[in-house]
Amino acid sequence: MCKPVIKWVGGKHQLLNELKKYMPKNFNTYFEPFIGGGALFFDLKIKKSFINDYNFELINLYKIIKTKPIELIKDLKIHKNNSEYFYKLRKLDRIPSFYKRLSKVKKASRFIYLNKTGFNGLYRVNKSSQFNVPFGTYKNPNYVDDSNILDCSKLLQKTTILNGDFENIKQYIKKGDFVYFDPPYVPLNETSSFTGYTDKGFDEDMQFRLKELCDYINSIGAFFMLSNSYTKYIKDLYQDYNLITVQANRALNCKANRRGKINEYIVINYKVNKED
Ligand SMILES: C[S@@+](CC[C@H](N)C(=O)[O-])C[C@H]1O[C@@H](n2cnc3c(N)ncnc32)[C@H](O)[C@@H]1O
Repeated sequence: MCKPVIKWVGGKHQLLNELKKYMPKNFNTYFEPFIGGGALFFDLKIKKSFINDYNFELINLYKIIKTKPIELIKDLKIHKNNSEYFYKLRKLDRIPSFYKRLSKVKKASRFIYLNKTGFNGLYRVNKSSQFNVPFGTYKNPNYVDDSNILDCSKLLQKTTILNGDFENIKQYIKKGDFVYFDPPYVPLNETSSFTGYTDKGFDEDMQFRLKELCDYINSIGAFFMLSNSYTKYIKDLYQDYNLITVQANRALNCKANRRGKINEYIVINYKVNKED
């Protein structure tokens, strides 16, 4: 049993059945270059895989789960669920010289703790890469899920973990491999965009660069599946491929009347069996 270790904005938990329905039935190595919370990756439990994310803290966490799960669990047990402790731990990144010297295990442990006790499991940093989410006042946040950490550690043993831009994976993809892309979405309108995943954001040039990587994958006989918003921009950009419309829950909207279902695109470069 493996489930995502952290909560992540844009997590794909609710779309798992749709994604699995439209995946290719057979492939060699699995790639997920925008891993985030890794809802699909942890659900599929494919051993031969590459994962990547631009977020250093997140990738450090996965590397520590892979290599030092016991030390991580030990450190997680030290934390306390109160606001004074939360803000004390949160402010460690305000003193860069101190934060640099913190061990990678301590950084991973702090990351899980802040994610589970911070408001809505949000990861948001300011321009200086300082974590700035407030305390979430949850009664019993589960930040020491030791059995899940051990299971995920086992799964990650055959996974190559990369940290950087999504194009990092290009050199490793071969014919017959499968890549699932879940990038920051093209905004539906000016106010709905959430670009707080990294200090850089994800603009149209990056969406275009991602499409070029999809073209490359297609040209070498590998498979790709990509999630993105239901916008004319995405429809036009991926007009040479198969676009499937699926329904997802609207994420990140505090106004109750703006919640509910919303369309999303899944783009694939292969045919799906309609009877599935
Ligand atoms: C929509 S989220 C992925 C959610 C994930 N599928 C899940 O289930 O939790 C997008 C991810 O892209 C990452 N990201 C943003 N810009 C990136 C870039 N240029 N290269 C790689 N990853 C990037 C963010 O850090 C974030 O984790």
